[in-house]
Amino acid sequence: MKIAFFDAKPYDLPAFEKYGKKAGVDFKYFETKLNRDTAKLANNFDGVCAFVNDEIDSYVIDSLYEMDVRILALRCSGFNNVDTEHAKGKLRILRVPAYSPYAVAEHAMALLLTSVRRIHKAYIRSKDFNFSLNGLTGFDLYGKTVGVIGTGRIGRVFIDICLGFGMRVLAYDKYPQKDIDNGDTVRNAELVELLECSDIISLHCPLTDETYHIMDEANLSKCKDGVIIINTSRGALVDAEALLLAIKSRKVGAACLDVYEEESELFFKDNSGHIMEDDILARLISMPNVIVTSHQAFLTEEALSNIAEATVNNIIDIRNTGMCKNEI
Ligand code: NAI
Repeated sequence: MKIAFFDAKPYDLPAFEKYGKKAGVDFKYFETKLNRDTAKLANNFDGVCAFVNDEIDSYVIDSLYEMDVRILALRCSGFNNVDTEHAKGKLRILRVPAYSPYAVAEHAMALLLTSVRRIHKAYIRSKDFNFSLNGLTGFDLYGKTVGVIGTGRIGRVFIDICLGFGMRVLAYDKYPQKDIDNGDTVRNAELVELLECSDIISLHCPLTDETYHIMDEANLSKCKDGVIIINTSRGALVDAEALLLAIKSRKVGAACLDVYEEESELFFKDNSGHIMEDDILARLISMPNVIVTSHQAFLTEEALSNIAEATVNNIIDIRNTGMCKNEI
């Protein structure tokens, strides 16, 4: 089977080559993202393999269909970048529902610790032999309340990590999960209680119409003064402009962002030689209390290997049986 692999990066290749070769799946790697301009590259392929910032809208779906491409193998869990309604009857959409919730949850905690203990500042100082401690005062996570929005695979691991730090957890999910509520250190709560009572809020829900801008001006204004916002889920969960204003007004004490609403043209690329056109991102990055990583929470060896294995298995399930448990 021939699969056109879009938005390919050097770190993708070893695992996809290993699992692809074993299963007789032949990947052709394209550095470009999949979008309206590049869809034609998939001509003569059986399927395409896409990632989080590829744009699989109705136009791209129709183009792929006309070229007899029948499989869209997403090598990620989220599928907010695919017009799934339009794809019905045209493309079999496969995804990797879970590959390492630990990778993402651990990155969320890494960002939080970096922010709270000013590691990003201290690192730069000590590189310059500046061993002053002024301005590096942090606070203990122990005893603080963390609000976790979305208590699926990643949210649950993040909750466990937070419990290890002696934190208290308020959990909010569209479908509250009773088993995580121990009536003491972890409690299910309504969103408004979570917003009002949390010192730190971490987002682990998918991006849907309901969760779009879940952290908007109105909800940010309900938060405790100095709240820390962590987003390792999808950029558009947070209204970036509202976040910027809330940071400027000191409502938000710090932000840890692995994802950004307008990341698709910027993240995964070296833009260091270019003028940053996105004023909101530029301003956020300029803040001493904002840490931005470029959608790297998934990027561990374990996760890359699991992603490649599961993506290849999805494709060969369709090839061999016509069925796949990870079809959307
Ligand atoms: P999951 O499906 O296991 O859990 C998501 C949870 O969110 C579920 O419990 C669901 O009920 C809940 N939810 C759905 N709609 C909601 C709403 N309106 N309000 C509150 N909760 C709602 O997903 P998982 O594996 O935990 O992943 C979570 C998200 O993390 C993904 O959707 C993806 O966007 C993001 N992600 C980010 C990565 C990165 O590298 N930064 C890598 C992998 C995932």
